[in-house]
Amino acid sequence: MTITIKDEAGIAAMRTACRLAAQVLDAVAPHVRPGITTLEIDRLCAQEMARQGVRSATIGYQPQGYPPYPGHVCTSVNHVICHGIPSDKKLKKGDIVNVDVTVITPEGWHGDTSRMFEIGDCSIAARRLCALTHEAMWHGIGQVRPGARLGDIGHAIQQFAEGHGLSVVREFCGHGIGRSFHEEPQVLHYGKPGTGEELKPGMIFTIEPMINTGRADIRSLADGWTIVTRDHSLSAQWEHTVAVTPAGCEVLSLSPGMPPVPGFVKELLR
Ligand code: MF3
Ligand code: CO
Ligand code: CO
Repeated sequence: MTITIKDEAGIAAMRTACRLAAQVLDAVAPHVRPGITTLEIDRLCAQEMARQGVRSATIGYQPQGYPPYPGHVCTSVNHVICHGIPSDKKLKKGDIVNVDVTVITPEGWHGDTSRMFEIGDCSIAARRLCALTHEAMWHGIGQVRPGARLGDIGHAIQQFAEGHGLSVVREFCGHGIGRSFHEEPQVLHYGKPGTGEELKPGMIFTIEPMINTGRADIRSLADGWTIVTRDHSLSAQWEHTVAVTPAGCEVLSLSPGMPPVPGFVKELLR
């Protein structure tokens, strides 16, 4: 297991990459409304990346056994868990959509963050899922400090989500990130406290829980990318990139347009 430790310059470069990814979300947020297609969201994200002078890490991305990913971002609607491919289908009132942005700076650093958007007035169940998934992510982030273990993060997320009658997707996880998009470690969103790799200053990884109202089981669609809930229940996801610091944790993917940090973690931010 080799987890890269980033030095001050690396952390500074990642701060820039992650802030820019978050600012792509800020830029599209006002447009994510009834009637827009996810392909239009994709184009707006691509435009904003171009304006910033960064590139999409997802377009053409092709891990072993996958076709090249066709979008500048991922757009995952309702029962789509993740890796939704932008399409010409219009979003309608009551839909929920995750937009997941990963950028590469000219210096080669990756910034990765995602948010949920509610399209018009959504059902109580949909709003609750989005809000609780956001909180679940922050419960995970709240565990990050030197000496803590990866299992502490997963446990905090699982405990919170399952405590609210929701289920945690097992097949996809957070990941180390830096000069590569996906590197070690794998950051599971479930687990046992006190287990797994010990966190050390300079580690940088994402926390990106995918949480369902129904069962945790997934199904992959024939396009080779789209992952949906097997029972077609709603799924939500939020993602931040964080750095382990000597003092605890720095959330790198902050931006003015992101939703407020829940009160229970505020003291942790710097
Ligand atoms: N951004 C996703 C993540 O958080 C990965 C998307 S890979 C893609 O790790 F190819 F589907 F875009
Ligand atoms: Co992402
Ligand atoms: Co990620």
